[in-house]
Amino acid sequence: MRIHTLIVEDDTGLRESLEKSFRRKNHDVVCVSEVCDAQRLLRERKIDLVLLDNRLPDGTGLDVLTKARELDEETAVIMMTAFPEVKTAVNAMKEGARDFIVKPFELEELHLTVQRALEERELRRSVQRLERERRSRGEITEILGESDSIEQVRDQIRKVAEADTPVLVVGATGTGKELVADSTHRLSLRSKGPLVKVNCSAFSEQILESELFGHEKGAFTDARDARAGLFEMADGGTLFLDEISEMKPGLQAKLLRIVEGQRFYRVGGQREVRTNVRIIAATNRDLKARIRSGDFREDLFFRLNAFQIIVPPLRDRGSDVVLLSRFFLLRSAAALRKGTLGLSPDAEQILLSYNWPGNVRELQNVVERAAILCESGQIGTEHLPGELQAQTFLTQQAKDGSGSMPSLAEIDCRYMAHVVETVGGNLSEAARILGVARNTLKAKLRATE
Ligand SMILES: Nc1ncnc2c1ncn2[C@@H]1O[C@H](COP(=O)(O)OP(=O)(O)OP(=O)(O)O)[C@@H](O)[C@H]1O
Ligand SMILES: [Mg+2]
Repeated sequence: MRIHTLIVEDDTGLRESLEKSFRRKNHDVVCVSEVCDAQRLLRERKIDLVLLDNRLPDGTGLDVLTKARELDEETAVIMMTAFPEVKTAVNAMKEGARDFIVKPFELEELHLTVQRALEERELRRSVQRLERERRSRGEITEILGESDSIEQVRDQIRKVAEADTPVLVVGATGTGKELVADSTHRLSLRSKGPLVKVNCSAFSEQILESELFGHEKGAFTDARDARAGLFEMADGGTLFLDEISEMKPGLQAKLLRIVEGQRFYRVGGQREVRTNVRIIAATNRDLKARIRSGDFREDLFFRLNAFQIIVPPLRDRGSDVVLLSRFFLLRSAAALRKGTLGLSPDAEQILLSYNWPGNVRELQNVVERAAILCESGQIGTEHLPGELQAQTFLTQQAKDGSGSMPSLAEIDCRYMAHVVETVGGNLSEAARILGVARNTLKAKLRATE
């Protein structure tokens, strides 16, 4: 495939030598020296690559960059800054430039930069193509993982999606309940209709009621106009009720009537409103216990529980932890423009043995943070939060096979020594990880010697 390249440079000598050099590499090249011409060409032609000077007679490179991104996000733009205008380069990267190069540069260096940018672009495009193909085959692409337990979840979604019954999604925080709702809606016969989401714990009872059911003018002090509720907005589609356990019994009764007959009244209304909505509810609490304590209606539970999907905690998904980490790492590396980032075997081991109380959301945060801290192309244990290292250490101590049970004080000491060793004897760093003052750490280490 021939690369269509636009060179924007007002220095005639440089422009001509770039043109010659890229023609020789078989690019299809057009050259301009002003912002307005560059913008016109971007509109008129298909451009894959832009080599962009920053200071131009009628504006700056950023003006061209913005236009290029607006017309086609996939156009690779490389800024050529006259002298280390770091600020401009940083701004340009934020606006979506692929890379920048500082003048004067060797042509060879520029070709390498271009090659990298084009390879990255090709990779992204093939990932997107694959994703589109899999989606059009009805595959559930948003829920990643190869473990049996997550495969089962996808299987259940495929089975229930078209059935149009209510679905109850149960799982601990951060396990992906909302993703389950997304894909159930997408694979359902209602996929062209709206998917409306509401978190039942985010509002007081009165506000939640008028959010869900709407209200007539004058229904309460602030109700200056009549307003349709989420049940009406979701007509023909799906309503996702997140944290359903937090809904108050009064509202539960009203919800039950809708689930049974799909009719209701707006707050303060006299007229029956009809709606055709599928309900997907989610909870991270034990609804049976809420029923026993009188906080949740059993009859509503049975209705919503027509089909239950249990989303397993991350620690029960085996090596999905690594697969998900690689995925989040790829995404963060692209967002941070850090090329490719790998996982060291030690870091991988820690991720695998940690028990992830916050599940996939916690993993995502840990990986994103590590990607920001990492300067070397590979995530090591030092980029992981202290509590992961601590818990992994404790698990290993408990599993050390000798059968002995160390006291907490002893584990404390061993752990301090472990952290000091891991950071190469840097006491300040060790104290920071351990969350104690440096002097305290020093004193404790001395006491154990
Ligand atoms: N299997 C998965 N593959 C890819 N991303 C996932 C997966 N599971 C969860 N995530 C991501 O993890 C984050 C948390 O997921 P989600 O919001 O669906 O969890 P939740 O169960 O609804 O949590 P909560 O109970 O706190 O509301 C989201 O950013 C989601 O995209
Ligand atoms: Mg959620």
